[in-house]
Amino acid sequence: MKVVIASAMSVLAMAWSMPAYADVRPIKFERAAPPTKGMIVLPVSTDGALTGLAKDADKSAKGAISKAIGLAKFKGNSGETLTLYGAGPFDAVLLIGTGDGIGTIADMQTYGALAASGTAVWPNGVKVVVPDAETIELDAYVAAIGARLGGYKFGKWGAQEAPGSETPAPEPLTFLSPKAAGAAAAFLNDGEAVLAGTAFARDLISTPSNIKSPEWFTSQVQEAFAGMPGITLTVLDEKQIAELGMGALYGTGQGSVRPPRLVAIAYQGGKAGEAPIAFVGKGITFDTGGISIKPNDGMWRMRSDMSGAAASAGAILTLAKRKAKVNAVAVLPLAENMPDGNAIRPGDVLTSMSGKTIEVLNTDAEGRLVLADGLWWAQETYKPKLAVTIATLTGAVVGALGREHAGLFTQDDALAEVFLEAGEASGERLWRLPVTDGTFAAIESDIADVKNIADQGAAPGASVGAAFIMEWAQPETPLAHIDIAGVAWESAGRPSVPKGGVGFGVQLFDEIARRYESR
Ligand code: BES
Ligand code: MN
Ligand code: ZN
Repeated sequence: MKVVIASAMSVLAMAWSMPAYADVRPIKFERAAPPTKGMIVLPVSTDGALTGLAKDADKSAKGAISKAIGLAKFKGNSGETLTLYGAGPFDAVLLIGTGDGIGTIADMQTYGALAASGTAVWPNGVKVVVPDAETIELDAYVAAIGARLGGYKFGKWGAQEAPGSETPAPEPLTFLSPKAAGAAAAFLNDGEAVLAGTAFARDLISTPSNIKSPEWFTSQVQEAFAGMPGITLTVLDEKQIAELGMGALYGTGQGSVRPPRLVAIAYQGGKAGEAPIAFVGKGITFDTGGISIKPNDGMWRMRSDMSGAAASAGAILTLAKRKAKVNAVAVLPLAENMPDGNAIRPGDVLTSMSGKTIEVLNTDAEGRLVLADGLWWAQETYKPKLAVTIATLTGAVVGALGREHAGLFTQDDALAEVFLEAGEASGERLWRLPVTDGTFAAIESDIADVKNIADQGAAPGASVGAAFIMEWAQPETPLAHIDIAGVAWESAGRPSVPKGGVGFGVQLFDEIARRYESR
């Protein structure tokens, strides 16, 4: 991704461009056959058990692998690894624990990521035995995606590539599976698209906010989608935002010298005129809290407060790249939430585009403000058959669900099922939380239609955020809201997710889109 200096006010940051995926080994797929030499990767289940091709490999090593497993007391617990050298005919054997078996997409991605990172130093080709997983159709495809996702690199500001450091074409990482042919086709068509969408989202999320203004975000979208078939971009500047009456989006951005934007990325891959799916993503390019300012501890992470917008944009990039037969649009209300002489104050009343008025009792509950106008504009403009809001909306959802699930909120039980399933199928898992009459009652305001926070203890915080957004859903629009505050940023690093922006939502939305695709 190229860095464009947003304005003369930005601190100068060195422009650089890096491969998004640092592990550039070609990925290949082969029909399962016992590997015979070189470096191999084998799954090991609980208590060091070897099965299938791993058992065959052990036989050709005359039991040296199982012997080493015993001597090293390698238990095969999920995620555990051990590398052996010179066992039988193999130069090196990377063992990866799979515990009681690979049950989920996330597990399989982790396996692929560990296979890639554990063999990155090996100069010759590597053969990876893909573990059996009854529930996963294209097992090798999923493992390969994990391998690439784990090799993502944001890069380092100021780091320069050493001149003449081009390495010779690397040897492939080959995944062995009975379903190799299907996996290869899927990886070529869909995998690369998912990886491109995720890298785009991760790059955007991890970029520091002195660079990442609403305008800069807009320019990145324009660059990424330039000339793509089926794509129509719409950009509203602050003047148009004001003229359209988007007082909530405008008000949120008015404390910043860097004005708000509303960007829409429409992709037409389905029938002309067919109603699209709208992904409306929170795009706060930095959240200080505004006048209700946040404490400094961890405030830096609020550069990721545009993760919903990034995921929505990344998902459309994925759909366009894999030529999905579906109509979808990402709507991105972008603003920077800053304290300033011109910022909105607690107690202010804003009028949103729908005409609904909002008493702002906390300027740090700003995501719901920009989403209110974004969602309304999306419905007015596109008449979507499904609207999805996605946002790093509340600290409360982190307390409720932690970092394994995003919060799902919808009043439509059938839609909830679709999302929960897509969450499992994509590895981006969801957990449904309630929005009740009581939640709506908690945001009734004395002086406006609604207030942007509930009284202390009156209703659960994540549900309050969801209820607020639902106030802007038109009766004919099915709406799902996803709170990704707990899952958007990776602090520790996991095998398939390096530290930094996760891109949570790209794979989920791709999976949702599949369920609406015409075949
Ligand atoms: N962007 C934050 C939510 C957040 C918290 C995201 C932690 C990622 C990690 C959001 O704008 C916010 O400040 N929410 C407030 C809402 C409150 C004032 C009702 C919160 O959760 O404290
Ligand atoms: Mn906030
Ligand atoms: Zn925020």
